[in-house]
Amino acid sequence: MILLYLLLIFVIFLLLAIILGFTFFVVDTFLDLPYVATKKEKVATIITLANIKPRQTVIDLGSGDGRLLFASAQKGARAIGYEINPYLVLFTRIKSKILKEKRVVVKKQSLWNANLKTADVIFVYGRGKTMKRFEDFVFKNAKKGARIIVNTDLTKPFPTKRPIKSEKGIYLYSVSQIY
Ligand SMILES: C[S@@+](CC[C@H](N)C(=O)[O-])C[C@H]1O[C@@H](n2cnc3c(N)ncnc32)[C@H](O)[C@@H]1O
Repeated sequence: MILLYLLLIFVIFLLLAIILGFTFFVVDTFLDLPYVATKKEKVATIITLANIKPRQTVIDLGSGDGRLLFASAQKGARAIGYEINPYLVLFTRIKSKILKEKRVVVKKQSLWNANLKTADVIFVYGRGKTMKRFEDFVFKNAKKGARIIVNTDLTKPFPTKRPIKSEKGIYLYSVSQIY
């Protein structure tokens, strides 16, 4: 009898995992920017190029599992993520509770409504036609002096802006004037 109960619990967990995996996949399929986590080596390059100072504000536009937020918080930054996938939001919130990392905040809302005015550093992970939209959005809304770090497969990420520096497929831009 106990074996039967254990089997039943196992089947319920298996079904839940399948449903969760499926809904995650469905949410992701409808996004212009699907979930792709930045690889560890690239996280290190991004953090180096970001040159984060303690108490600066960092924003990740589409924060995924929050890895760039936690890496920024380790440098002393207040790290804000905008993420639309509820599973990734939940994952980041649970991780910040477990790590007692109060400097990491994730907002479950569209990145296109992000308030960039407070950001010293902004992370963008874009591809294809989203890059022009990112360029317009960031350069219109970020404050002067903000550093923009772009992770992309493209060789010319922002169509009309020139990067200050690039390293291993990561590009650094600066908002040098208010548009
Ligand atoms: C390429 S992943 C980048 C994840 C993370 N920044 C990293 O570097 O590991 C893009 C993320 O943006 C999220 N996303 C896509 N469209 C979004 C939107 N309109 N608003 C907020 N997040 C969005 C996706 O769910 C996904 O987690």
